[in-house]
Amino acid sequence: LLVNASEASARKIPDTLFGIFFEEINHAGAGGLWAELVNNRGFEAGGPNVPSNIDPWSIIGDESKVIVSTDRSSCFDRNKIAVQVQVLCDRTGANICPDGGVGIYNPGFWGMNIEQGKSYKLVLYVRSQESINVSVALTGSNGLQKLAAANIVAADVSSWTKVEILLEATGTDPNSRLELRSSKKGVIWFDQVSLMPTDTYKGHGFRKDLFGMLKDLKPAFIRFPGGCFVEGDWLRNAFRWKETIGQWEERPGHFGDVWNYWTDDGLGHFEFLQLAEDLDSLPVWVFNNGVSHHDQVDTSSILPFVQEILDGLEFARGDPTSTWGSIRAKMGHPEPFDLRYVAIGNEDCGKTKYRGNYLKFYTAIKDKYPDIKIISNCDGSTRPLDHPADLYDFHIYSSASSVFSNARHFDSAPRRGPKAFVSEYAVTGNDAGKGSLLAALGEAGFLIGVEKNSEAIEMASYAPLFVNDNDRRWNPDAIVFTSSQMYGTPSYWMQHFFKESNGATLLSSALQANTSNSLIASAITWRNSLDNNDYLRIKVVNFGTTAVIIKISLTGLGQNSLETLFGAVMTELTSNNVMDENSFREPNKVIPVKAQIEKVSDNMDVVLAPRSLNS
Ligand code: AHR
Repeated sequence: LLVNASEASARKIPDTLFGIFFEEINHAGAGGLWAELVNNRGFEAGGPNVPSNIDPWSIIGDESKVIVSTDRSSCFDRNKIAVQVQVLCDRTGANICPDGGVGIYNPGFWGMNIEQGKSYKLVLYVRSQESINVSVALTGSNGLQKLAAANIVAADVSSWTKVEILLEATGTDPNSRLELRSSKKGVIWFDQVSLMPTDTYKGHGFRKDLFGMLKDLKPAFIRFPGGCFVEGDWLRNAFRWKETIGQWEERPGHFGDVWNYWTDDGLGHFEFLQLAEDLDSLPVWVFNNGVSHHDQVDTSSILPFVQEILDGLEFARGDPTSTWGSIRAKMGHPEPFDLRYVAIGNEDCGKTKYRGNYLKFYTAIKDKYPDIKIISNCDGSTRPLDHPADLYDFHIYSSASSVFSNARHFDSAPRRGPKAFVSEYAVTGNDAGKGSLLAALGEAGFLIGVEKNSEAIEMASYAPLFVNDNDRRWNPDAIVFTSSQMYGTPSYWMQHFFKESNGATLLSSALQANTSNSLIASAITWRNSLDNNDYLRIKVVNFGTTAVIIKISLTGLGQNSLETLFGAVMTELTSNNVMDENSFREPNKVIPVKAQIEKVSDNMDVVLAPRSLNS
């Protein structure tokens, strides 16, 4: 491998090249990164008609003691469903309540993770014609072990009353539930029941451990809130940003019909922009352009949808005194968010209304926000786009060898005009399982191609990012979690090899002509702002099944000595079996392993293990 470190042969990699793509899929947000512990907190998930299903809420007590139903008596206009708990039993008399009382409980998203010493903020709305004495408890999954408890005692809750309680946990159970019980005959209504851990990232509502996994990738951007999630199977179920802002209690929530689950939209437009800011990443907003999987808005009726998006841009970037900017300011962020990229739709290029609708959005956005970069869904890598765009979207899901060989796809992509945004890439199918080493190697080869072609590519992100192990809608994913655990798949760890690449300098590097097609390599240098030193990173994927010895020859180092310029560390991602995966039992089976390189020279032999990513 010949690496020329001289400036003459070098080129800057875009600052934005590697980022992440967050989609509300696999309970990535609701029951994942968004730390809300109550599932279906407003009882809205069963639909707007009553009686409705309150799942996963369940009843404590049999029907001789308690009857639970829903009605439309909520004080919140956009989510009218409330739950009614009719307590038939009492402390005394003919129908005595069981110990602890009767009521309802919420198991969270496959169990709430309650941890000893931590505190949880409970907020709920309650109403009753009589005085109430409701006991609130966090208990283990069988309802026996009490981890925290409090009582709501009130003489007059004849109109809806907000109750806030801080619960301190005295025990730990990742499979806990929240119980609301009473032993007093009467009817009690509850609505908008929320339980949030108090130690979310900066208090912004993001689960800290999962947030940390994202931050560690140093993503330059975050694309959100999805791919198909944005489109919806039907437009009526698509993500509509206006329904996701303001006070959480007032948000209607919606059923994501592509991935088939309800979200309360606690993680809404504001929170996504906040997440981007907290990650030091640029937000990339994907919005619905009047096209879903099964229905489309005709271009002649698209203007209200265009206005909706202009309002969303004003919400993100407008002056705090503007109509929508003032709502953002009220939500605690008077400064505009740094929104510079939007994508008009997702995978919609083939749809009949796409181009017509696209142009309406494009023209209106450029008119008001000329600096915003607009991403088209149509692939411009093989032929020029027939419409204006700053970037074009490119998605690739395929076998490991196909993704690996697509490293060369962009060799012939246009160097002028719109640049590529590889906003979804992954090895899928049998090669990937639930996240194999083989998949990560195919993707690493592809990303080396992305780096080398970064004149034509501005951004790239893996998909999907998260999976709650209890609701696998898509395999594989980068980060797997439950209520209390998490691990990265090899594809997650593979991305760590690229986290210094944003804004780095790409050096000219070439493998000798007779080298196997199973090898691909790149070299970058960058200055570390912490120690002010220059670093050189050479990445090589050995996709083949045999070990390879390569000679790395460095030229053009100039005055710099190898010892100061070249960190003498080799990092390897490999395993005994190429189909090896990480798991909760073995989270570190396939992770990068570092070793000191004993003898550094500008002409050295390096052994590459079979099926390995090395740097
Ligand atoms: O990443 C999963 C899905 O794959 C995305 O929602 C969609 O854009 C693509 O088809």
